[in-house]
Amino acid sequence: MVNSKSETNKKEESKKWKEEKERSIKQIVSWAIMLSFLLAFTFAIAKEGSYAESEEEARKILEQAQTFFKPLPKIVDNPENKVTPEKVELGKMLYFDPRLSKSGFISCNSCHNLASYGVDNLPTSIGHKWQLGPRNAPTVLNAAIHSAQFWDGRAKDVEEQAKGPIVNPKEMASPSEMFVVERIKSIPEYVELFKKAFPDDKEPVNYDNIAKSIAAFERTLMTPSRFDRFLEGDINALTKEEQEGLKMFIEVGCIACHRGAGVGGDMFQKFGIVKPYFEVIKYKDKKKVDTGRYEITKNEADKYVFKVPSLRNVTRTAPYFHDGSVWELERAVEIMGEIQLGRKLNKDEINKIVAFLKSLEGEIPDEALKLPVLPPYTSGTSKPDVN
Ligand code: HEC
Ligand code: HEC
Repeated sequence: MVNSKSETNKKEESKKWKEEKERSIKQIVSWAIMLSFLLAFTFAIAKEGSYAESEEEARKILEQAQTFFKPLPKIVDNPENKVTPEKVELGKMLYFDPRLSKSGFISCNSCHNLASYGVDNLPTSIGHKWQLGPRNAPTVLNAAIHSAQFWDGRAKDVEEQAKGPIVNPKEMASPSEMFVVERIKSIPEYVELFKKAFPDDKEPVNYDNIAKSIAAFERTLMTPSRFDRFLEGDINALTKEEQEGLKMFIEVGCIACHRGAGVGGDMFQKFGIVKPYFEVIKYKDKKKVDTGRYEITKNEADKYVFKVPSLRNVTRTAPYFHDGSVWELERAVEIMGEIQLGRKLNKDEINKIVAFLKSLEGEIPDEALKLPVLPPYTSGTSKPDVN
């Protein structure tokens, strides 16, 4: 009996214990559920809070950026040289045609290779008879929006610019404008295309029209990037780091010179405001020091003044500066801080700025990347002369 009683007691106890255990488990589970709801809720609030905060911050950066920069236009038209499909097609052929050079070997694309963002990635370019030029080739991409062409701004627009390299003895070295016109005239397909592109001209094949059609093609070479989407209001187009870099670019003062739709390309400034650039970029040969715009104007105030380059696609156009002396973008940014702003930028600041500059890498229009097929030589075409 005792045994059985104690046994039933035991059974009851264990039943109670079991029930209690179950209750407490239920309680724990419900607590846990409640807690997890609570946690999820507070996290959600916290997340929402930081999201809203970062969105607000991004909007502030966007607003600031919109006062200094503008999105790229689709094409940059010129009232004196209207961009038409006929001119662009012809201009593209001429851009790729090495017969504009004396040697029949060098085209605009040799030094402004569209497959590598419109540059040759050389410190300074190689021209006729392997001659080394004095300056780095800037990209043709987006060049049409610049307020002037060349490092020293000696040409007012892409139309005027295009006339230079064809007859420059160090570049394409054609002996004269007439020489080039005669070569083109000897190719019937070209004559037809000039008639279509310049229907109002009596003598459509002339040197001006060669330059005009190449320029019309260049006016289509715009490369919109994620930065343009950001400027148009899409704050998610730039990562947080890129936004921080943009903010830094604005706050440290890069925007004093690199601004507008080109993020540069619209003013002349001394290279070396705080100290001469040739104290930072050391040359073995003193004669190499380039005085920039002074060479054109002979005005003392223009010594060491250069066009502020556009920073669009800058991650693709190394080496940097008018002399192509610097290969690392980080180093170029560091030099800018030091000699343009008198500010020693630290690694973190430089990296952020470079992250922003990366967002300026744009898309080259598909049409420009499709190679044209050029019409053949005729018996009347002057033969290539490599000497
Ligand atoms: C041998 C290499 C070479 C060839 C060929 C060449 N260029 Fe250039 N181009 C350069 C160099 C170098 C510069 C910079 C020169 C300077 O600023 O003094 C330049 C500058 C330019 C610029 C100015 C860009 C800017 O940001 O200021 C444009 C536009 C341009 N070239 C277009 C052309 C066109 C169009 C052709 C063909 C008709 C052509 N180039 C042929 C090397 C070349
Ligand atoms: C006072 C005007 C000025 C300021 C401020 C300035 N720059 Fe420049 N920047 C220039 C000029 C001028 C050049 C061309 C120098 C040369 O090569 O002759 C240049 C060149 C560059 C280049 C090389 C581009 C190329 O294609 O070779 C980079 C990159 C650059 N700047 C970034 C910056 C950054 C980043 C800042 C801010 C930290 C900045 N710049 C501040 C005027 C300025």
